[in-house]
Amino acid sequence: MITRSAHFPNLEDAAFDAARKTITETHCSFCIPRHPCYFPAHITAATGAAKPMEDRDYRVAFPTRGSILGAAELAALADLVNSEQMLSDGRWRSAFEHRFRDHVGSRHALSVTSGTVALELAIHLADLRPGDEVIATPQTFSATIHPLLDRDVRVHFCDIDPATLNIDPAQVEATVSDRTAAILLVHYGGYPAEMERIVAAAHRHGAVVIEDCAHALGAVRHGRRPGALGDIGCFSFHNTKNLTTLGEGGMLTFDRDEWYVRLDRIRSNQPDVVCRTPQSPTPPPTPLLPWMRFSGEVYAYDYAQILRAGTNATMSEAAAAVGIVQLDRLAELAARRREIARRLDDCLGRYGQIRLHRPPEGVTHAYHLYTFFVEAGQAAREHLVKALDRSGVEVQLRYFPLHLTPEWRARGHRLGECPQAERLWFDQQVNLPCHPGMTDAQVDYLVEAVTAALDETLPPTGPTGLDERAAARA
Ligand SMILES: Cc1ncc(COP(=O)(O)O)c(C=O)c1O
Repeated sequence: MITRSAHFPNLEDAAFDAARKTITETHCSFCIPRHPCYFPAHITAATGAAKPMEDRDYRVAFPTRGSILGAAELAALADLVNSEQMLSDGRWRSAFEHRFRDHVGSRHALSVTSGTVALELAIHLADLRPGDEVIATPQTFSATIHPLLDRDVRVHFCDIDPATLNIDPAQVEATVSDRTAAILLVHYGGYPAEMERIVAAAHRHGAVVIEDCAHALGAVRHGRRPGALGDIGCFSFHNTKNLTTLGEGGMLTFDRDEWYVRLDRIRSNQPDVVCRTPQSPTPPPTPLLPWMRFSGEVYAYDYAQILRAGTNATMSEAAAAVGIVQLDRLAELAARRREIARRLDDCLGRYGQIRLHRPPEGVTHAYHLYTFFVEAGQAAREHLVKALDRSGVEVQLRYFPLHLTPEWRARGHRLGECPQAERLWFDQQVNLPCHPGMTDAQVDYLVEAVTAALDETLPPTGPTGLDERAAARA
């Protein structure tokens, strides 16, 4: 229901409800029977009248960019252009990787063209075999697990912990077995997952833990950073992320030297292979002369098995040059996100039926997404969202539980498989704008609008609601 307000602000309630009724009563072929249709595209098709989200000019909107770029990034680009150095495979890429590796605290960092590519390659490194099991979170963006769709593996969605929206470590411990080859999780919205228990359980059974860190730049868990908590970290520097390399980019972080060699080959158009012993290479049919390109290497090895074709996933020098500057600004960008989140927590925490997405001591949230929960249920959430939308505050809802999407239902996944993820998405969860591009005036207005909308929806329990609940928990 929340998507109605966010995606169809210009559509009359009656028209929207009629469209949704048509869709649900005729059993929208993509949606879940007996549940309202939540997909903007389906409702657009049913009404023809709906205006897309972009048409609405919100006073406080989700960001067109998740980071801020300025004079320092321009200067880095000017340096690169004026240097007459290579524009790919050059020194900016290595410098960015070294800086990133040191920031995360991993032995290696290897850049690629996107977070999606990083995840594809990480899943390749897990060396999955037909029939293997993979444990995955249902509460993430589709790219976290998409590469599993066309593999002959059994995906087991473990439900999430409602406090964090991250995969529930207790469920992982109960599910992991010697058949489990990999665990795929996300640090939802920038809230670091409880990795200690998950990694211990995975390693007892020889499974690889892949962390989707797309939201997690700026997060810390007991002194350690996501990307160095599991076996492989996958970062995205997409336009909307906490740090961007000019709109697209990604990074893998890990400790194993062998993985570096394999990934470096794949991203530069060489296949990932198992070699025969180098002592018995195929002899060249003709003498190899120094001017012949590829002459030296081609007959030095024979490949026993091709594990994966190579591709070009090289981060450009321009992207890397901007990435270095962005990494220098990360502390400041992350502090601004935390400051806005603190203002929202203080405001929302006064209301008894609102639950915050707030980590305990020792855990730092990166607030790629600001999330809260309306525990009063679906009708109260709908009311609240409508009030926020009327006041010009954009509301979003991320992410639709993945096991219920058509592609995963086609593989046999069903409603009821992850009750917590379903309950929170359908009834309680809300995401508000929280990003460093917001002005102080916008933050003030957001807090005012949230207060007014909540006063209308759920009268506050008093100015000390948050403190009382903290005391009750202690
Ligand atoms: C959780 C998550 N994983 C992966 C990705 C994919 O990253 P990219 O857009 O860089 O391919 C995104 C976002 O775009 C994301 O939010």
